[in-house]
Amino acid sequence: MQALEAILTRVTVPPVKMGEPGPDDAALGRMLEAAAAAPDHGKLRPWRFLVVRGEGRARLGELFAEALLRERPATSAAEVEKQRTAPKRAPLIVVAIARIDPDHPKIPAWEQQASAACAVHNLLLAAHAMGFAGKWATGGNAASPIVQSGLGLAANEGITGLLYIGTALEPQPAPARPSPVMIAKAWP
Ligand SMILES: Cc1cc2nc3c(=O)[nH]c(=O)nc-3n(C[C@H](O)[C@H](O)[C@H](O)COP(=O)(O)O)c2cc1C
Repeated sequence: MQALEAILTRVTVPPVKMGEPGPDDAALGRMLEAAAAAPDHGKLRPWRFLVVRGEGRARLGELFAEALLRERPATSAAEVEKQRTAPKRAPLIVVAIARIDPDHPKIPAWEQQASAACAVHNLLLAAHAMGFAGKWATGGNAASPIVQSGLGLAANEGITGLLYIGTALEPQPAPARPSPVMIAKAWP
């Protein structure tokens, strides 16, 4: 698929609407190469990735459930169970981690965060270009200190995205996007 076509046709597919197969090692490798091609001011490489597949997804679900129970003990059993089983809905979860140097003399933290976001988008575009479906999620799990610590994040790291990747169960139409006249004006 051409780059422009991939950009214009990428659409989020929720994990409930995806199934097997997930990417094999070669396809995953291409996605990670695409992630590493993100714009990166100062070549800081302010991102890294955890690849969660197979039974690792059950471990991740246990971590989500444990975090929810400890952070919000009044959560219903149904919601806890939903979190426990959530990662199993996608064949692959890539945890995208931003590794920020807050004291860098030249590159502010927001630029490092932006580079991590670009890496995520590159990865999702590569997945789409190879025929896979994906969803970029964050939510309570990404923000949870218990989830972050369970995944081994350092103090200067945060979760930019939990990327659910698989094969769409049915074709997803590209959503309507804002037209150029809505988002851009000539200046001056
Ligand atoms: C940083 C970031 C975090 C997001 N987190 C969530 C999330 O936790 N849950 C969710 O449903 N969508 C989340 N989204 C939005 C979806 O990934 C998706 O972009 C949105 O539903 C629009 O669909 P589209 O990508 O097909 O345009 C997030 C998007 C970004 C950029």
